[in-house]
Amino acid sequence: MPGIVLVGLQWGDEGKGKASAYISRGAGLTVRFNGGANAGHTVSVGGKSFSLHMIPAGAVSSRSAALGPGVYLDLEALFKDLEQLEQSLGRIELVVSPRAHLVLDLHKELDKSLELLRSGERIGTTLRGIGPAAMHKYARLGLRLCDILEEDAASLSAAHLWRSLWEGLLGRVEEAWLSRLRELAERVRGFVGDVGGRIERELCSGGKVVFEGAQGTMLDIDHGTYPYVTSSHTVSASASTGSGVGIKAISRVIGVAKSYTTRVGAGPFPTELHSPIADELRRRGGEYGATTGRPRRIGWLDAVQLRYACRLNSVDEIFLTRVDTLSGLPGVKVCLRYDGVGEGFPETVASLQRALPIYREIPGWPPIGDELRERLRREGYGALPREARRFVELVEEELGVPVRYIGVGPGVEDVVEK
Ligand code: GDP
Ligand code: IMO
Ligand code: MG
Repeated sequence: MPGIVLVGLQWGDEGKGKASAYISRGAGLTVRFNGGANAGHTVSVGGKSFSLHMIPAGAVSSRSAALGPGVYLDLEALFKDLEQLEQSLGRIELVVSPRAHLVLDLHKELDKSLELLRSGERIGTTLRGIGPAAMHKYARLGLRLCDILEEDAASLSAAHLWRSLWEGLLGRVEEAWLSRLRELAERVRGFVGDVGGRIERELCSGGKVVFEGAQGTMLDIDHGTYPYVTSSHTVSASASTGSGVGIKAISRVIGVAKSYTTRVGAGPFPTELHSPIADELRRRGGEYGATTGRPRRIGWLDAVQLRYACRLNSVDEIFLTRVDTLSGLPGVKVCLRYDGVGEGFPETVASLQRALPIYREIPGWPPIGDELRERLRREGYGALPREARRFVELVEEELGVPVRYIGVGPGVEDVVEK
C-alpha cells in the first residue's frame, strides 16, 4: 500500500505535474496538500496539454483527485480546472476537504497592495492571494469551506467578520462577494468529503496514492530563501499535515529536479546565468511561468542547494526532468560547492548573494529530438547519449541519491527509467 510523495527540489516548476502524471499511472488517487492557485502544473498526455492550478495534474492518469485541508482553495480556479479535465477525459472523482481555507478576492487585492508597499523589495508573488490568505488563516480569521457551507451562527459571524475586515482594510464593501462565494460553495458541495479517510481507504485496500506537491523546497516558508518564499510548507513532511493522514501513510519520497535551475519572482539565486545560454534555454524550453506568463530566471544545476533539499525531504529517488532541453550545448556546468560562505546552505539573503558557486564542467550531449525520443521509448536508458548518462551519474554522486526517472520530453510518455 504505497503512499508516494512527490515534491519539487528547487524553486518550483521542476516538472512535478508531468512527473506526477507518470507516477500516478495505476494509482487510485492523487492528492494536493499545499499551496493554492499559485501553482501551475502543465502536463501533456498523448499530444494533449493540460495546465492545472488547483487539481493535481496526476489526476490525468489516476482519474481521481483530492484537495486536502492544507490547500488554499480558490473555487473559481478549481472549477476551471475541472472543466478543462472533464472536457477531455470525462468524469473524474474529486474530493475536497471542508477544512480547506478559502482564497477570496479580498486576498488577491491585498496581495497586490502588499507588493506595492514593498516597493523595491517586492517578492514577485503570483498575486493569487496566497500570502494574505495565510495571514488570515494563522491569525485565526480565515474562512474555511465548511464555514460557508454551514449556515449556522458561527459561519454567519465569520461572514460578518469578513464584511467588516473588507471595509476596514480597503475602505469599501464588495456586496457581491458573499453571494458569489455562496454560489461557488453550493457548486462544490457535492465534492466535499473526508480526504484523510479517502486516502486511508485507498491505502488499506492495497491501492496507490500519490501526493503531488506544489511549489518547490526553496520556496518553503521555514526552509526556503525567506522572505522570497511562498506562504506554505512545500517539503515532503507537509504531505501528512496538509492531507490529514499520519506520517506512516508515506512510504516513499520522490524529489523532482530540473536538469538546470529556474526561478520566477525575486530572491537570491546563486547559480543564475546572465548570458546567451540562459536566453537559449528559456527560448527552447518555453521557460515562462504557467500561472503568470513571466519569464523564468535560469541558472546551472546547483548540487549544494539540491543536497540541502534532499536532506529536508528524505528523498529516496530523483525524477530528473528536461535532460532534452539541456541537450545540444558544448558543455554543461554543475555547481559543486560555494566559496565565501560557511558549511551547509546559507540562511540569509546577504550570504546567498555572497556565495560564489564553484562549478565542474562536463561535455554536453547531442540534441535530443523526436527521433531519439522514439528510440528512448523503445530502448530506454541505454539509448541516452553517453555524455547525458555521465551527467545523470554526476548528479547521483553529488547528491548521494539515485536518479530513477529521467525526463526527455514534455509528454508523460517521455520518461526513461534507470
Ligand atoms: P511544475 O509546476 O513543477 O508542474 O512544472 P511546470 O508545469 O510549471 O513547468 C514544467 C514545464 O516543463 C511544463 O511545461 C512541462 O510540460 C515541461 N516538462 C516537464 N518535464 C519535461 C522534460 O523532461 N522535457 C521537456 N522538454 N519538458 C518537460
Ligand atoms: P509550481 O507548483 C514557481 C513563487 C512566486 C514568488 C513566490 C511567492 O507551479 O511549481 P506566492 O504567489 O506563492 O505568494 O509567491 O513563490 N511561486 C512559484 N514559483 N512555481 C510555483 O508553483 C510557484 N508558486 C509560487 O513566483 O516568487
Ligand atoms: Mg509550475
